[in-house]
Order: sequence, then structure tokens, then C-alpha cells
Amino acid sequence: MKAVPATDGSLADGGPEDVPVGRPVVRPRRLRRTAGLRRLVRETSLGPSDFVYPLFVRPGRDVERPIASMPGQHQHSVDRLADEARQISALGIPAVILFGIPETKDALGSDACRAGGIVPRAIRALKEVAPELVVIADLCFCEYTDHGHCGRINRAGDAHYSRHLPEGYLLNDPTLALLQRAAVVHAEAGADVVAPSGMIDGMVGAIRTALDRAGFEHVAVMSYAAKYASAFYGPFREAAESRPGFGDRSQSQLDPANGREALREVALDVAEGADILMIKPALPYLDVISAVRRAYDLPVAAYQVSGEYAMLHAAAANGWVDLRRTALESLTAVKRAGAVLILTYFAKDAARWLAEADPPPEETGQRSAIPWTPS
Ligand code: PBG
Repeated sequence: MKAVPATDGSLADGGPEDVPVGRPVVRPRRLRRTAGLRRLVRETSLGPSDFVYPLFVRPGRDVERPIASMPGQHQHSVDRLADEARQISALGIPAVILFGIPETKDALGSDACRAGGIVPRAIRALKEVAPELVVIADLCFCEYTDHGHCGRINRAGDAHYSRHLPEGYLLNDPTLALLQRAAVVHAEAGADVVAPSGMIDGMVGAIRTALDRAGFEHVAVMSYAAKYASAFYGPFREAAESRPGFGDRSQSQLDPANGREALREVALDVAEGADILMIKPALPYLDVISAVRRAYDLPVAAYQVSGEYAMLHAAAANGWVDLRRTALESLTAVKRAGAVLILTYFAKDAARWLAEADPPPEETGQRSAIPWTPS
């Protein structure tokens, strides 16, 4: 049972009694040999029902404004949402998340708390044409405030001004009161889920209490439980016109270096009554997704953010990567890590790609009627 090097340097091709030591007995490649075998042992599958599609809503009529840094994405006026909703629903995507760009911004982001605000109007329009579509309302103030921060800011003259805190500090508890109002307004408009994204301490509990008091115990809370202070949000801030006027969001969002702290944030949201736990961004934080998935039995969501989308588009536009394959591979990775739902700007494209009957030739080298999923 010894490896006998042949004169040409290759291993001797002997009978069963002299299998060379260097020859593997276990051969995982056996199950990768054909597309059929690979499908048979595939652990993760991707489908349109995994996706939530983000929509940006802006004032005006008949507006479909492209977002330069997010190819294929637009800001839509409310009247243009019907088409969009029908398309999304026809593709088998179960849910949308709405971001609003209001007519006017002010210090408190008042439009986020008005029944006639941009997102409540959008919710009503969506529910009219596609009642089956799950509508998630993002609850944050950065799109609605003139300073671009996610709530009430410490400013001299403000009723909640504190001289113990720095000027410009995002005031926690006064922001909770605003969030409670916004949650109820969006629930009244018909939102199925509200999604607080500001990383304000106590936000889930405050919203849960307000919803229950107002008779909306059936409205779910999807918490942006572990939201990092990430540079990958760059393009979104153009899309939602929500760039902070001063400073950044690192006083509220998680430090990208911290994983254990994410679990602590998640634990608080679980205790406060969150129904779905979201991790954001997705691909750079697969370890966090996986840890949360293992530690809790609530559904785990991941947000593949604007920068993740923009990067793949930019590289693909240069011919450096294949858009379809890198996008599906990323989404598969996020699901493999433990997310059951993925908020992604690729939702519509991915649903179409996954429905296409023919795998690309580089996948199998032959035509087949088997729907293609990334391997
Ligand atoms: C806050 C919010 C942000 C995103 C979703 N909700 C931006 C931020 O926190 O700065 C980012 C989403 C993306 O980048 O796709 N309202």
C-alpha cells in the first residue's frame, strides 16, 4: 500500500490491493459532477418569495426619476406605484419596503407623522391595486428632517434641549415619542409591518406599546436590530435625499468592528417584542447574520444595501464581473448565512433570472429545462 511513483512522475495505476497512499478515498467531487447531482445536494435555494423590494416614493405626478448611483432604480410618484406593484406581485415577490421623500423637510420630520404624508399615501395606493402585497413602512426620520438626522436633535431653543448633551446630539427619548406617532400613522394607512431603522434605544418597545394602544396589535415590527454605521449606504443617501447635514450616524449605529455588541442589540429588540430581526448591511456582516440565526428563533432578515448593489453594477458595467451571477451568488450567500428574507434592489431582476428556464451555457455546458440556480 505504498505510492509508487511512475517514471513519468504520476502515481502508479495499480489494482485495488496497491491503491497508493496519496490517493483520496473520500471524493466530494463525485456529487459535483453533473448539474443534476449538484441540484440534488444543494443546501440553499433562492426564490422570489425570499425578497423584499425597496421603493422610493416622491412628490409629484407621473414622476419616474432614475437614481444615478443605483442603475435600474427610481424614485416614483405615488400615481406611478400601481404599475410597479402589479409587476412586483406578478413576479412572486411578497413584500415591499417604502422610503419617502417628502415635499418639505423640517427639524422634526413632521411629514413622517402626518396621515397625508408621502408614505401613508403610497401605502393606500399600493393596497388598492395589490392588497396581497405585504407593505413594510420604514420608520426613520433622516429622509424627513432638514438636518438629515434620524430624529430630534439637541438644539438651543428646542423644548427638549439639554445643556448636558452636545449640540447636534440625536435625542433618544424625545425621538421615541416621534417614532410612536409615525408607527401609528403608518399602521392606520394600512402598513402590515413597520420597520424602525434609527437604532434609537428602546424603539421597538415604544413602538409596540403605541401600536397596541391604538388597536394595531396585529401590525408587526421588523427591527433594524443590528444596523451598522456603514459606508455602504452611500448611494441610498442620494436615493432618499437623506445625507446628514452635519456629522454622521456613528453615535447611533453600530461600529463595524463589533459583533458581540450586535447580539446585545438584538437581545434588547427581542425582549421589547420585535417580530423580525434585521441585520444591515448583508454581505459584509454574514457572521452577524449567522450568529443571530443560531441564537434566536425569530425570522432573520438581511438588507443588501445600496452600496452592495452599486458595486456589482459598477463592476459589471466595466465588464469585470457578470452581474447576474454575482448578484445571485451574493443573495445565496446571505440566505446560506441564515437570513429567511432579504431586502434587495435586485429583487425584480433576481426573480426574473430565477424564473428563466435556460441555465447559462457556462453553468452546464448543455441546454436543459431545469431552472438555473447559482452553484
Ligand atoms: C435610514 C436608512 C438608511 C438605509 C435604509 N434606511 C440609511 C442610513 O441609515 O443612513 C440604507 C439602505 C441602503 O443603503 O440601501 N432611513
